[in-house]
Amino acid sequence: MKGSQFLYPALLKTLIVPPLVFSSCLHLFALNQLQAIWKILGYILSFPIIYIIRSHISVYLSSRRARLMGSRDIPRVKGRWPLNLDILVDWAKSGSEEEVARMMVLLQRKWGRTYNTRVLGEDQVISSDPAVLKHVLMDDFDNFVKGEKFKDRAVDFLGDGIFNSDGDRWKFHRSLMRPFFHPAHISPKLFTPSIRAFLDEVPSDGEGFDVQKELGKLALEMAILWMTGEHLSSTTSSTKVGLEGNKDEDEDWAKSKDKLADAMTQAQRIVGKRVKIGTIWPLFELTHDPLLEPMRIIRTFFEPIIERAIKRKHDRQNLIDDDEKQDKDHLHLIDRLVVATDDIKLIEDQLINTLLAARDTLASCLTFCVYVLILHPEVGSKLREEIRSIVIAGEGDGDGEITKDVIRELRYTRAYINEVLRLYPPVPLNIRRTLRPSLLPTSSGGQPMYMPANTSIILAFILMQRDEKVWGDDVNEFKPERWLNDGLGKKEREAFMSWNYGPRMCLGQPFALTVTHTFLILFSRHLDKLSSEGKKLDFAFDSQHENTSIPSLWTTVEGCDGRARGGKDRMWVVADVVLAIKGGLWVRFDPVETRRIDE
Ligand code: HEM
Repeated sequence: MKGSQFLYPALLKTLIVPPLVFSSCLHLFALNQLQAIWKILGYILSFPIIYIIRSHISVYLSSRRARLMGSRDIPRVKGRWPLNLDILVDWAKSGSEEEVARMMVLLQRKWGRTYNTRVLGEDQVISSDPAVLKHVLMDDFDNFVKGEKFKDRAVDFLGDGIFNSDGDRWKFHRSLMRPFFHPAHISPKLFTPSIRAFLDEVPSDGEGFDVQKELGKLALEMAILWMTGEHLSSTTSSTKVGLEGNKDEDEDWAKSKDKLADAMTQAQRIVGKRVKIGTIWPLFELTHDPLLEPMRIIRTFFEPIIERAIKRKHDRQNLIDDDEKQDKDHLHLIDRLVVATDDIKLIEDQLINTLLAARDTLASCLTFCVYVLILHPEVGSKLREEIRSIVIAGEGDGDGEITKDVIRELRYTRAYINEVLRLYPPVPLNIRRTLRPSLLPTSSGGQPMYMPANTSIILAFILMQRDEKVWGDDVNEFKPERWLNDGLGKKEREAFMSWNYGPRMCLGQPFALTVTHTFLILFSRHLDKLSSEGKKLDFAFDSQHENTSIPSLWTTVEGCDGRARGGKDRMWVVADVVLAIKGGLWVRFDPVETRRIDE
């Protein structure tokens, strides 16, 4: 059990060192004759005292090194409580009571765009300064890693995959995976049937439904389809298709398929909780390992799929004709992986890592695309107009074919997606850790700031992408036009990091953009079709659970105090596993003109 492995050495270090130092002091200053009560008091006080002394020494040393290197300290936050414990409490509360990154907005107002929270005496830097983020993700890339601490918290889930590795190991993963993420392997045709099936099932009779939840299922379905060729919505068992399985295995696999989405969410939440708790996370898992069950489900799901891919590889190797071999090669990500390695655990890790990267980010992007379509009907109209004019209606069911060329022509749609990603980045925060000290630049110029080795930095993408100093007075306006014509200036381009930045930029961008364009085309047509029947998509505020409705004060310019995109949002935006709408995005198809969005 990880808990006990952590507990004993930690207890030894924590319980032995302070009293040892205390008794050495007694000897040193000949205070052995003190009464027992003073010794006990001294023993108890030795813990906080040692802690505070250590903290002061580290601050002193860090400031000294900063001066020696011609730099300055990163501003250290002075909280209301000792050891900045109030920040820890606010941080814990902010998840349920506040908007995403609210605590950072407040700290930034007082301490600037880069500051050190120093909770419990440990350096923890947060920044939304584009110059700092670029430095971390690009200029000093080799020095800013995910780090051992992240690995320790995520290894039971992500194993040795691309998300969980640094240095040469990460380079190996990246070069193994990159070729398959090339746009040549991604066709809108692959996703069209799943999106059509999704639209067919969406209620159009006035019933409210949570589109965020449904898009989560759709994203999972499309990611699994592209990675493995497996149709999640199909009732056929994987073991029966191509492999000799027994009935129990079949049933087990079918159950794992149904529970896959929940198991992934659960595993992500557990790792997220570990990251939030920090070093002492094993203490919260002393009696059981909460990852065991979700990981059992995830592995049960992938096991027969990997076996089948290996079988396919052998079948291909037996083919005589090279062209035929080529044709059948690299059908799905998994086919490439089994060709590249025989290590089944590595293949499984890569699949889990890719699924993690793909599912929630994609679901978040699609959800906010739908949200904005309702929130800003005038922008939605322009989007639908462009789609109508460029995607020429074809024969049969009236659908023009969706091809890569068609997608390339949809310039307003692409600008729309970019603007969604700017204001609602699916990954709102990222984190890195220094191997060695680094000097952080600032956008305003002036002396660089000294960042010590082995220190974490949170990169606040969402704050940077909503920063007036970068994007101008209209920062909170949803304006796809800012991406058109001459496009963004250098300053703005370098402050858009929804796909990450530098060598570790998202590999799935072509996949995500193809899916999102295809979805928007088909969704627009669906809206057109229902509009011809006198129906219109709107928020279903009455279906939203009471505790999850956005507080009305946040929706006014005067009362929002910087929340809710300056009072424009009508839903409560939170960071769950990724950026999401609290309680789901409830919508319905209403008869036209019966409702208004600000009802
Ligand atoms: C709109 C959707 C998406 C957004 C906004 C997004 C964003 C990101 C971000 C911010 C990272 C960096 C994460 C980190 O440093 O820890 C990342 C990495 C990655 N993404 Fe995406 N992603 C999206 C969709 C996808 C999809 C659909 C896939 C796969 C099909 C994918 C595959 C990956 C992979 C493999 C990495 C790891 C790259 C590396 O570490 O070298 N992403 N993505």
